[in-house]
Amino acid sequence: RIAYVNGVYERTSEAAVSIEDRGYQFADAVYEVWSVFDGRLADLAGHLNRLERSLSELHIAMPMPRTSLLVVLNEVVRRNRIREGLVYLQISRGVAPRDHVFPVDVRPSIVITAKPVDRETAARKAATGIKAISAPDIRWGRCDIKTVGLLPNVLAKQKAKEQGAGEVIFVDADGFVTEGGSTNVYIVVDGVIKTRSLTANILAGVTRLNLLPIIAESGIELREESFTLAEAKAASEVFITAATSLVMPIIAIDDHKIGDGKPGPIACALREVYIERAR
Ligand code: PDD
Repeated sequence: RIAYVNGVYERTSEAAVSIEDRGYQFADAVYEVWSVFDGRLADLAGHLNRLERSLSELHIAMPMPRTSLLVVLNEVVRRNRIREGLVYLQISRGVAPRDHVFPVDVRPSIVITAKPVDRETAARKAATGIKAISAPDIRWGRCDIKTVGLLPNVLAKQKAKEQGAGEVIFVDADGFVTEGGSTNVYIVVDGVIKTRSLTANILAGVTRLNLLPIIAESGIELREESFTLAEAKAASEVFITAATSLVMPIIAIDDHKIGDGKPGPIACALREVYIERAR
């Protein structure tokens, strides 16, 4: 595999950033993940818009113009000969002797990697659906910023894995579902889709952004409102979205079956349309 690191393309196994990179020491960095369909980055603009927003919230300057970044992203895809896969981009504040406050005159570090994805395996997984567990959302109050500070997500997703589940559903102190460990969450109740609104400390998923018009076109009613874990468990369908999993049905939460315990028809139909549009 080939990675892009601060202007240079090199073997991923040999590519490196400084031990004094602030991404490494403080998680002072943001990231994006694109899915690649047929050699093309999906939702290119949506992810770049969110990247710019994340950077601006942390007062990190865009390290290069958007058009140049686009060229580099495509070059990483090309050099890795990715037809179906994922691209990861990380931008940190830069390298400086350790000190909590922002260093002056520092250049952001930029790293881009890519890997292939087996769409057939993913399709089989979606056809079976995955299990989820619930966990208290112990993350910070700015989950709208896509930072690499993901320790609560890492720990919760590890716990999910140890319990035979593929995702964790975070629940806030009032019992409301926030989002998944690396996904947005939706439920279907009486034929209506519910998903938490973006104002309430969750990441504005690009997949979510693109799915909402698809839902609108399908004629299914969508309400952007919070729902509790109990509502999710009683829903006829639960599904999650992200660039990595696209639209993925959830068939159980904490070993409680959702609906009949099989992927729901709405989730499956939305997945089909989403992939069709992304291609
Ligand atoms: N995660 N919520 C969280 C907490 C996420 O980490 C992600 C994405 C999403 C969905 O965003 P999008 O639809 O733009 O992928 C929601 C990426 C894929 C990851 O961490 O690997």
